[in-house]
Amino acid sequence: MNRRSMLKAACAGVAALAAPRRTLAADAQVEVSPSPAGAEISPHIYGHFIEHLGGVIYDGIWVGQDSKIANAGGIRKQFADDMKQLGAPNLRWPGGCFADGYHWRDGIGPAAKRPRTATYWGRQLPPALNGGEPNWFGLHEFMRLCRLTGAAPYLAANLASGSPQEFHDWITYCNAPAGSVSLADERAANGDREPFNVQYWGIGNEVWGCGGNINPGDYMSMYRLFSSQMPPYGQPYLVACGPRGHSPGSDVAWTTALFESMQGGRGRARLSGLSMHFYTDFRPTSVSSGESTPQQWYAVLKEGLRIETAILDNWAVMSKYDPSHRTRFVIDEWGVWYSRSPQIAPGFNLAQVVTLRDAVHTAMHFDIFNRHADKVFMANVAQTINCLHSLFLAHEDRYVRTPVYHIFEMYKPHMGAKLAPAKIQAADLNVAVLNGQATLPGLSASASTRGDLLTVTLTNPSVDAGVTVRVRVAGSMRPSEGRGTVLTHAAMNAANTFDQPDEVKPAPIGITISGDAATVTLPKQSVAALQLRLA
Ligand code: AHR
Repeated sequence: MNRRSMLKAACAGVAALAAPRRTLAADAQVEVSPSPAGAEISPHIYGHFIEHLGGVIYDGIWVGQDSKIANAGGIRKQFADDMKQLGAPNLRWPGGCFADGYHWRDGIGPAAKRPRTATYWGRQLPPALNGGEPNWFGLHEFMRLCRLTGAAPYLAANLASGSPQEFHDWITYCNAPAGSVSLADERAANGDREPFNVQYWGIGNEVWGCGGNINPGDYMSMYRLFSSQMPPYGQPYLVACGPRGHSPGSDVAWTTALFESMQGGRGRARLSGLSMHFYTDFRPTSVSSGESTPQQWYAVLKEGLRIETAILDNWAVMSKYDPSHRTRFVIDEWGVWYSRSPQIAPGFNLAQVVTLRDAVHTAMHFDIFNRHADKVFMANVAQTINCLHSLFLAHEDRYVRTPVYHIFEMYKPHMGAKLAPAKIQAADLNVAVLNGQATLPGLSASASTRGDLLTVTLTNPSVDAGVTVRVRVAGSMRPSEGRGTVLTHAAMNAANTFDQPDEVKPAPIGITISGDAATVTLPKQSVAALQLRLA
């Protein structure tokens, strides 16, 4: 049975759908309901994460004020400009595992007087740093980056080797008005009179791993100490360490134990967000970041799709303890993590080649986040530059945007828009993966509205065949005009390099509009973003 006849069979049982008036024979259909408007897709879903690791900060973001590379107060200008262009909603810093060894006072005051410190990732930094953290990029430099890009700061506080006092002082230093307390005056003396107004704070990172190796009950006791006597500046959005979502069973045991101990007879702890980390983790395999066979391609996408199960499994636990859902997910690390990667530059620990496969994986993740807009408040790609699953690679005066960057760009219209539920009808793909056969959805999609503009994103994961998709708009509105872009390449492992920066980039896609539907043909291994004007 080919894709088209399988779709016909799949559609036969869907009585609720009106008979389509087709101008192009479609292999798949997406029925979008723009009204009534659904949940807001939090713009923070399209967030970022940077850590003092390999070439992320030094060489990647921080080039120094005296550099010949164009910079804004030491920050690589092209990076800041691109992040601003993307509308980067937030930026998580300084880690990661690094955060639980970081003391914020080491990164303030005159740069020449800042200490050189040992760090979690110390031995794998660019050679010029001699294995030590110079603290040139500290809090004020991070806040400069946030101002340049428009991103909201999300600070990861040190639980494992810090203290509640160090945390509270950090909040006061950031947020108290100058003239009110000594810490605020110190901030002003260091160049920033205006408070930073940091709202998002994480308390501990991966405390089940590099952040202390502790159990959920002990963590909750510490979390209460950190979060109960908060300085009176602003309304902090506090994020607790949640599950390692890619673990077997979605790590619901952690979430269950955490919420169980949070109730604990002493009242609910102060908690706005529950962090979840989900890596599409290929370190136990031989899959390399720069190569792809069809089996590897499908294996990566299939594994990535497990994030939806992790969201649903952990949400079910949260629903039991927090039925009114005061706490939502902050998926503050996600991305593909390969076992092997060609080196991008010396000392760029964890830097990977980012290919079309990672772009397709990104689009499928974003469709899932969008579709669960009621559950996911924030997500942060790991990590934005020179690392795993990055949007940018930079080394000295060379700089390139990866295919993942283009997906962030194409999905930008979803940020802050209202979810439009989408019924997807497409034949599954039955494919070979690394160890046997697997079934994957033949199409990924999500949709949102902003006023009369409907955005529909579509991914064809097949490496064999294109797919013609009919996007039908349910209700009284009709698509009147449309435009769109598509990202694809003939090679599964296509990447943008310093020498060929535009090898993978979006191109316009043709859209046929007729009656209540828009029809597009997606090439194999492609992602499309459509914008339809409704009237
Ligand atoms: O992103 C790299 C590392 O992955 C982070 O430091 C840590 O939180 C996670 O294990």
